[in-house]
Amino acid sequence: MSDIVSIALGCRPVTKRRAAPAPGDNERNVFMAKHTVVTMPGDGIGNQVLPEAIRVLDAAGFEAEYVHADIGWECWAQEGNALPEPTIELLRQHKVGLFGAITSKPKREAEAELIPALKGKGHQYFSPIVSMRQIFNLDVCMRPCLSFPGNPLNFVRKKPAGGFEEPKVDVVVFRQNTEGLYAGVEWTNPPQQIRDALGLHAKFKPFAKVPSEDLAISVRIITRPAARRICEAAFQHARKYGYKSVTICEKPNVLRETSGMMEEVAKEVQKRYSEIPLWSTNIDAQTMWLTKNPEDYGVIVASNLFGDVISDAFAGLVGGLGFAASGNIGEQVAVFEPTHGSAPKYAKLKPPIVNPIAMILSAAMMLDYIGETEKSLRVREAVAAVVAEGAVRTYDMLGIPGGAKSLAQGAASTTQMTDAIIARLGARVEAAYAGSGRN
Ligand code: NAI
Ligand code: MG
Repeated sequence: MSDIVSIALGCRPVTKRRAAPAPGDNERNVFMAKHTVVTMPGDGIGNQVLPEAIRVLDAAGFEAEYVHADIGWECWAQEGNALPEPTIELLRQHKVGLFGAITSKPKREAEAELIPALKGKGHQYFSPIVSMRQIFNLDVCMRPCLSFPGNPLNFVRKKPAGGFEEPKVDVVVFRQNTEGLYAGVEWTNPPQQIRDALGLHAKFKPFAKVPSEDLAISVRIITRPAARRICEAAFQHARKYGYKSVTICEKPNVLRETSGMMEEVAKEVQKRYSEIPLWSTNIDAQTMWLTKNPEDYGVIVASNLFGDVISDAFAGLVGGLGFAASGNIGEQVAVFEPTHGSAPKYAKLKPPIVNPIAMILSAAMMLDYIGETEKSLRVREAVAAVVAEGAVRTYDMLGIPGGAKSLAQGAASTTQMTDAIIARLGARVEAAYAGSGRN
């Protein structure tokens, strides 16, 4: 039995849980767990998949203390803040987090769901994951997109001579996570000073007569130090795992200043990695090429919005949301999460039907980050084995509609998928690691 300690904090009780002792462990070893991980299941299916990832971590022999922290919609509704201070404090203290997913809703709905005492008090909803990235400067977002052999959702290409081929996709997207168009500097109905400042730019002339209430502005901010960090992270990864190239995916021919700076910095960083060529693609062309020749790409680096777009596009080639893992990595703190959201329409199904693999692969990325690379590989190999065998598949992998009837149609439940992965821990499978650099 796991050891559970509960202390009151935030909008729900905080539980501290130690990893279950493995056979042969003595109590002292377990108590001396090397790592503490802040777990933030959040909303909806976040609560279904995160505990499954912890089961896998336990079974892989990872010894840790898990500290629960609140995040998400309930915190917004109860406190007017989706990222409570105690959660920030726990992350500051323990430095490594596993995050499930959150729900966010449009402005009016968000206000309507606040408890009566908070209504009309000027509370503004901010996405807690975006806030977390900004508070801890989690500026490097890493999103591996690896096709597991045997996954029926893998991209296939029609051959000109007839028949199909399944190119191996092994791409890792490095997305700048804190700046660019997501910096949050934006207005509808901008104040006059902003209009005056923009008026200094010749290209603002056509907009000068637009009434302010009809004008929406989002600022794209790129700074050289952050551009350097994301490019450096991309090249480091390429070198460490033997990727053949790094591609900077921007639009410098049009966004001459911001994309221009990203490209310039990428070229400068590349000089220290002379064995790795730097390719430069435009975001629009890249989205076309990735369905023509995805196997040609290795590490891709991009600013915030373009990185978001291109990582979702590549994720679509390797199984979609059920497989898309990510890490948000800063200098002090790192948080690992599947890229999917809270999928509210499946959140109440019992037993749960969603695919836990994206969350489990995110937990494996966490293991890599803290240096538990052998356990991480075991987890990936187990996932690869289950996918290759094909006997256990969640509804998304079968291409059938999700819902209460999915299980009767042969889909595995969330728990059954996790059980299958745990049962295959120890399997030796080729190419289980997203950083294998075989492209
Ligand atoms: P979503 O990712 O929650 O779900 C979209 C669809 O993808 C689902 O309906 C389901 O068909 C499929 N799906 C997602 N995860 C799956 C899994 N693990 N296994 C199998 N199928 C899966 O995105 P949606 O519906 O646009 O947003 C729902 C809520 O999640 C919103 O409130 C949104 O704001 C929030 N969201 C949160 C994110 C986060 O926490 N990082 C990211 C994206 C959305
Ligand atoms: Mg996205």
